[in-house]
Amino acid sequence: MSELKRRDAIKGMLVGGAALAVGGLSAEDAESVTSNIPQNAEAAQASRAFRGQHQPKPLPFDPAKLRGISEKLIRSHHENNYTGAVKALNGVEQRLDAMMKDKDLPAYVYGDLKREELVRTGSMILHEYYFANLGGEGKPGGAVLDLIKQWFGSYEQWEAEFKRTANALGGGSGWVIFAYNSYTGEAHNYWAWDHMHNAPMSRPLLALDMYEHAYHMDYGAAAGKYVDAFMQNVKWEEVSRRAEEALRK
Ligand SMILES: [Fe+2]
Repeated sequence: MSELKRRDAIKGMLVGGAALAVGGLSAEDAESVTSNIPQNAEAAQASRAFRGQHQPKPLPFDPAKLRGISEKLIRSHHENNYTGAVKALNGVEQRLDAMMKDKDLPAYVYGDLKREELVRTGSMILHEYYFANLGGEGKPGGAVLDLIKQWFGSYEQWEAEFKRTANALGGGSGWVIFAYNSYTGEAHNYWAWDHMHNAPMSRPLLALDMYEHAYHMDYGAAAGKYVDAFMQNVKWEEVSRRAEEALRK
């Protein structure tokens, strides 16, 4: 392995280690990860899977208008954790392409970065679902309410299970994902320990971020208060739109 490739491999492993330690790269960290990677001309020649051209989506609501979740927290979450994940994913994809050109690279070194590809992809997608299902009035209705009643008996019974699942993740990390599973045809509140954890074939309808970065600034360790505040801001119109789309396919 050339010295340059060896440094690439080591840097790739460091990326994985840092992510494990902090549960997500900040935008600043992601910037350092993406420095010295193949840029536009070279990246444009890579296969589509390795181009690393994902663009962060802007916040789809006015962060000053949420109830019980501060603008400062939402902006920090969006700019650092979410945007950091998108930038890191771009860096990971482009670095995978560079590493594949090294025939002597050990598979276990490559595997560390493949794990990061899955972490960052899950983080990007789930955060986009999370922000898009916020900014509403917290009043359930439409097709998703019918689905909830069908699988949980009532909205109250569904909410009790959703919140208990969320509170079980308090003080740690993870997601609660109310999802329609297109394989089983069932709707469930799924517990997810991290960005990679999900039931295969489940389509998220409502995503709740339970990483401490999603609430600690406002509520400290009182995760339950954050869960209550989240419920007041759910944009059920978007959740119902997702349910209609999932049920059509
Ligand atoms: Fe997050």
